[in-house]
Amino acid sequence: MNVKGNIVLITGGATGIGLSLVKEFVDAGNEVIICGRRQDKLDEAKKLYPSIHTKQFDLSHSHDREALHYWINKKFPKLNILINNAGIQRGIDFRKGIETLRTIDNEIAINLEAPIQLCAYFIPLLQTQKESAIINVTSGLGFIPSVAMPVYSATKAALHSFTVSLRRQLQDTSIKVFEIIPPMVDTDLDKGERKKRGQTYFGITPEQTAKESFEAIQKDEYEFAVGDAKNLRTGSKQNFEEHFDRMNKHFK
Ligand SMILES: NC(=O)c1ccc[n+]([C@@H]2O[C@H](COP(=O)([O-])OP(=O)(O)OC[C@H]3O[C@@H](n4cnc5c(N)ncnc54)[C@H](OP(=O)(O)O)[C@@H]3O)[C@@H](O)[C@H]2O)c1
Repeated sequence: MNVKGNIVLITGGATGIGLSLVKEFVDAGNEVIICGRRQDKLDEAKKLYPSIHTKQFDLSHSHDREALHYWINKKFPKLNILINNAGIQRGIDFRKGIETLRTIDNEIAINLEAPIQLCAYFIPLLQTQKESAIINVTSGLGFIPSVAMPVYSATKAALHSFTVSLRRQLQDTSIKVFEIIPPMVDTDLDKGERKKRGQTYFGITPEQTAKESFEAIQKDEYEFAVGDAKNLRTGSKQNFEEHFDRMNKHFK
């Protein structure tokens, strides 16, 4: 994939892995657009990278996904890369019953429905460009699930499956379909839950994750697992129990 001179939309690009991807794409000479819910985070990102475009959208709502597509079509009709990066991660204890689901954000809407709907919205536009790409950010937990985060893991497994099908559906179009599979990355994704669970290791940096992913995109590595996620991806097919126990040793 040519990684210069593109127009790139990165959902959730104001923080964490998304923000590190912004750096990679801006430094390589691409025009970058980001969106997210928190205006202060979008403003901070714009201060760091003044050339980027920012807009507030809450992708858990279907009407905001439609509004994002409308805005991009009007303002950036040459958009050729969509990066579905926005996501949330929540610990959910099903032993507490339905109440535990009522008090949390909807991971299914943000992590799964949003990328699927955005793909559907943007594919007609992306197909009109000479070379284009959809890049879905899944997780090693989509391959070996976390017991503490069952819904999160399920959304990422489903997004992986969707990405495999989409890649085949679009094989005769100009759209390349990538999947980035990060391992544990030290960002604000879990809002301090890792510490509460007694973990002492918080993962690799978002900068390393973005750098390696960017290089993989450049080399057309369509399903790219970063760092330890490589073990989870292959382990899911070979030593599932061993990896499952190792990944979930903190669960009580
Ligand atoms: N960190 C890890 O260990 C890890 C591992 C594997 C995969 N990943 C995946 O990597 C991606 C990025 O996560 P991260 O680790 O960089 O965490 P992060 O810093 O929390 O980034 C998530 C981004 O998504 C945005 N977002 C969340 N809900 C949104 C919504 N409803 N509408 C629009 N934007 C929304 C957030 O901005 P607002 O809150 O302002 O909306 C934030 O900028 C996620 O898909 C995550 O599942 C992370």
